Amino acid sequence: MTVISRAVISGAVLTESGRARPYAASRPLAIEELQLDGPGPGEVLVRMEAAGVCHSDLSVVDGNRIRPLPMLLGHEAAGIVEDLGEGVDDLVAGDRVVMAFLPRCGRCAACQTGGRLPCTPGSAANNAGELLTGGFRLHRPDGSAVHHHLGVSGFATFAVVDRRSVVRVGADVPPDVAAVLGCAVLTGGGAVLNAGKPLAGDTVIVVGLGGVGVAALITALSLRLGDVIGVDAVPDKLAAARDLGASAVYTPQEALDAGIKAAVVVEAAGNARAFETAVQLTAPGGTTVTVGLPAPDARASIAPLGLTAEARTIVGSYLGSAVPERDIPAYEQLWREGKLPVERLISGRIRLDQINEAMDQLAEGRAIRQVILFGT
Ligand SMILES: NC(=O)c1ccc[n+]([C@@H]2O[C@H](COP(=O)([O-])OP(=O)(O)OC[C@H]3O[C@@H](n4cnc5c(N)ncnc54)[C@H](O)[C@@H]3O)[C@@H](O)[C@H]2O)c1
Ligand SMILES: [Zn+2]
Ligand SMILES: [Zn+2]
Repeated sequence: MTVISRAVISGAVLTESGRARPYAASRPLAIEELQLDGPGPGEVLVRMEAAGVCHSDLSVVDGNRIRPLPMLLGHEAAGIVEDLGEGVDDLVAGDRVVMAFLPRCGRCAACQTGGRLPCTPGSAANNAGELLTGGFRLHRPDGSAVHHHLGVSGFATFAVVDRRSVVRVGADVPPDVAAVLGCAVLTGGGAVLNAGKPLAGDTVIVVGLGGVGVAALITALSLRLGDVIGVDAVPDKLAAARDLGASAVYTPQEALDAGIKAAVVVEAAGNARAFETAVQLTAPGGTTVTVGLPAPDARASIAPLGLTAEARTIVGSYLGSAVPERDIPAYEQLWREGKLPVERLISGRIRLDQINEAMDQLAEGRAIRQVILFGT
């Protein structure tokens, strides 16, 4: 096997967070030429085909989520295996893989919880902006290191990632569909299936209808249980949810005024007000699943009495409480059987050099999922 030693790639690098909007003018993300080391032991070189633009990328750009900089962003992506590092013998060049944004070591106590807890060393590597195998594979021409985003750094023509950051999918899965399986579907789908666990007849409400929320909505619809209701502040998002088959759609205030309640409520908006709404919409005995990642200093107000007297549960869900190598193939199969219309999440297809404009669209609530297609 020939291990490619070093390559020059193009990627969207964030050097400073918190620049003023519009990003089309302030241009926080610069397309830079970087050097990418070849895959080391336990690593994989992937040629990127598609990468989705998630709010968790925007949160690094706007400073709501503090990450070490400079960082090559992007964590929802899919591509083709080009080369394998030493010891990787269960993939071959040419395989299509989906990136999982939190690699699992498979050995720590958290990894024994069936997805309920995020892997401890995987989370530490993500917080440090390193690969789980340790350190950086990305360098500027002067040799200085560029951090990895969640072990993926998908806004780039190529990536070197830990083997445990990829899950193989079939060649029949289109690249844009494969990309969104890695974050929006894994997170939104898992919020319903792994964390909310609705039963026959249960109503499911999704608060926040971006990529993650719409993935939760289509997953809930695929179960054919009770009503599936969408809540968002933006009218276009409500229209999209209705088109997808939601039983009803409401703005947050309308939902509260109508007094609707559900056994499972998924919050996929990422702010404290939406979280409060989700808790208020949860029926006695029901579960609020919170997926959004608000700013670290955000605080919510809820009435503890209702939680006790109505025996309700609030549960946080990261990575869809998923085991990616178990769950991504399951979503892939549901998609193949026509039960999970994942392509309906994709509201725009763009080029890598349109990434700043894409961040504006996302910040303004004008996109469900925009996907960068490479090589177009
Ligand atoms: N837990 C995880 O593992 C995980 C994974 C991916 C994303 N996330 C987080 O999930 C959240 C959603 O991500 P996304 O990419 O779908 O974001 P998005 O920006 O595409 O969608 C958020 C939606 O919430 C709506 N919204 C905002 N405030 C609202 C309110 N008060 N009530 C109802 N709706 C409201 C917006 O109009 C928008 O449609 C973000 O916070 C993101 O960082 C978490
Ligand atoms: Zn994401
Ligand atoms: Zn682990």
